[in-house]
Amino acid sequence: MSDKKAPQPPESEVTPEPLYRRRREFIKNVGLFAGTAAAVGGGLYLLAPKRGKSPEPPPPEAAGKAGPAEPPAAQASAAGNPAGPYDTTEEQTPYEDVTSYNNFYEFGLDKSDPARNAHTLQTRPWSVVVDGEVHKPQTVDIDQLKAWFTPEQRIYRMRCVEAWSMVIPWLGIPLGEVLKRVEPTSRAKYVAFTTLVNPEQMPGQKRQVLDWPYVEGLRLDEALHPLTLLATGLYGRELPPQNGAPLRLVVPWKYGFKGIKSIVRITLTERQPPTTWNLAAANEYGFYANVNPAVDHPRWSQATERRIGEFRRRPTLPFNGYAEQVASLYAGLDLRENY
Ligand code: MTE
Repeated sequence: MSDKKAPQPPESEVTPEPLYRRRREFIKNVGLFAGTAAAVGGGLYLLAPKRGKSPEPPPPEAAGKAGPAEPPAAQASAAGNPAGPYDTTEEQTPYEDVTSYNNFYEFGLDKSDPARNAHTLQTRPWSVVVDGEVHKPQTVDIDQLKAWFTPEQRIYRMRCVEAWSMVIPWLGIPLGEVLKRVEPTSRAKYVAFTTLVNPEQMPGQKRQVLDWPYVEGLRLDEALHPLTLLATGLYGRELPPQNGAPLRLVVPWKYGFKGIKSIVRITLTERQPPTTWNLAAANEYGFYANVNPAVDHPRWSQATERRIGEFRRRPTLPFNGYAEQVASLYAGLDLRENY
């Protein structure tokens, strides 16, 4: 890891996202807002060298290449009607923000890089291997997977470890349904996920900023929980590449970095698998990564968050507001130690 540098808050977090695109709306608040963000020091990490880049959104042509255009209003609102027991009725983050303020280091370190660069990702054909401690291992084409399990909508809060959050209407398949189909053996205790490795399509992999491929993991009971989703779309549309097309994990009670993108392999294991951010900085990012306002990141508080599009910070809720559904999974576990 010769050119790995010490984790630093990225400069993109110092100029918060709503200002990128709503500069005119928010112009009065610029000084105050930037000051707040700098004080929070929120930033996963890393190493973004000062590039003197203008923090503007990608031009419309580039955004068009990277993903579908903004959906027609009717479609977006139809996609957004809360219907299921797990849906939040909180205001949804605009499509434009969900698809242009991203963390996807395979395409660059700035929040605006993935929307600009991820058009190089070829999401068809795409197959996903499901193997390991299962009786019926499978290699399944993404369209076959979507035909087996019709994607359903889930409107979830997403809380990034950097202390910003969004509300996103995902389309997805409950991971538990997929796992049941391959029949886990009695030895299966964890599920390991792997992102594609292809430096030609994912130019960020030419730099050793993280150990590639990006890997993540869940305990089997977390993976089987009905909230846990393999997302294939958002706002009623195909998942744009910058959001992790064609298949990404969504675990709404955990910090966003657990939501591994562009998955090519799902392996059931006996032992706890390694996870990318834990490998990069074990004292900052644990395996569990449950949203917990009582346990601060070593470099910033987790007590509050900035909902994208809002000015005032709001309190962060234990398990990101999903405690009723998931707290029992952690009965008897010290959540301070198992961060
Ligand atoms: N998956 C891969 N393969 N590479 C990444 O850099 N970033 C993670 C996660 N999944 C990341 C990834 C982080 S830090 C976050 S917060 C979420 O994706 C961001 O998802 P979004 O861009 O759709 O908001």
